[in-house]
Amino acid sequence: MKTIAVISMAGGAGRTTLAATLAVLLARRGREVVALDFDPQNMLGAWLGLDTLAPRGIAKALTDASETWHTHTWRSDEGVLFVPHGNVTLDEAAACDAHLAAHPQWLERAIGEIALPESGVVLIDTPRYPSRQAQQAARAADLVLCVCPPEPAACGGFVAHLPALREACADVRIVVNRLNPAREMQRDVLAMLRAAAAGLPVAQRIHMEAALPEAFARGGWIVDEAPQSQASHDLHGLAEHVDAWLPALEASLAA
Ligand SMILES: Nc1ncnc2c1ncn2[C@@H]1O[C@H](COP(=O)(O)OP(=O)(O)O)[C@@H](O)[C@H]1O
Ligand SMILES: [Mg+2]
Repeated sequence: MKTIAVISMAGGAGRTTLAATLAVLLARRGREVVALDFDPQNMLGAWLGLDTLAPRGIAKALTDASETWHTHTWRSDEGVLFVPHGNVTLDEAAACDAHLAAHPQWLERAIGEIALPESGVVLIDTPRYPSRQAQQAARAADLVLCVCPPEPAACGGFVAHLPALREACADVRIVVNRLNPAREMQRDVLAMLRAAAAGLPVAQRIHMEAALPEAFARGGWIVDEAPQSQASHDLHGLAEHVDAWLPALEASLAA
């Protein structure tokens, strides 16, 4: 079983979009997938089929010692097991942060309780890095997918925080998301990102696609609704990259 954290230094970079899409594409390839929403925004469930934001989830266990962190696990239509974050008030969010500060190994221990086959994968959605949640996710992960929009502001955060992220996880790979080749400025920012990434592999570049949020709004997937689009091709490429990195499927499952 491997753990992958989807992290970014910029807000709205596409972490939740990519975590959810990867979860489904890997499940369709026959992988057993557990998706953890470790972001107080609590949005991963919306991608995985919940009509309303899950009221309870991981957060409950951070503020209530009698609660088990996976009590509120759901199974999506496509067989992805996922644990929502749960809605939190400002005070509850502060209490969660305090608990994570006092227990830096909290997420690692929780993931240690997950029983998946060798070929299984745990995907973690996170709030913007740096945050306690993203830091714990990076430390618990075998692989960090660092989502970078080719925008100047996002590039600044990337440069500032990449060293700490690399210290937290030995295998960090870049996913450029919202690529728009028509915007000349993006070419300069991509060159800056490449220089700052100092040899880190780029797992995939994913193009900007207006139909992507529209598909989500209809409760569908861009890879089904616009399978010929560049973004769908890119998303399959990312799933292929991760699938090739994961241990091979067991013979019984692959058969
Ligand atoms: N490649 C893309 N093309 C177009 N829209 C995208 C793309 N990736 C993400 N989005 C949209 O950008 C918004 C923010 O994405 P989200 O995954 O919620 O970001 P984060 O979790 O990093 O805050 C969403 O509306 C999402 O549908
Ligand atoms: Mg998100």
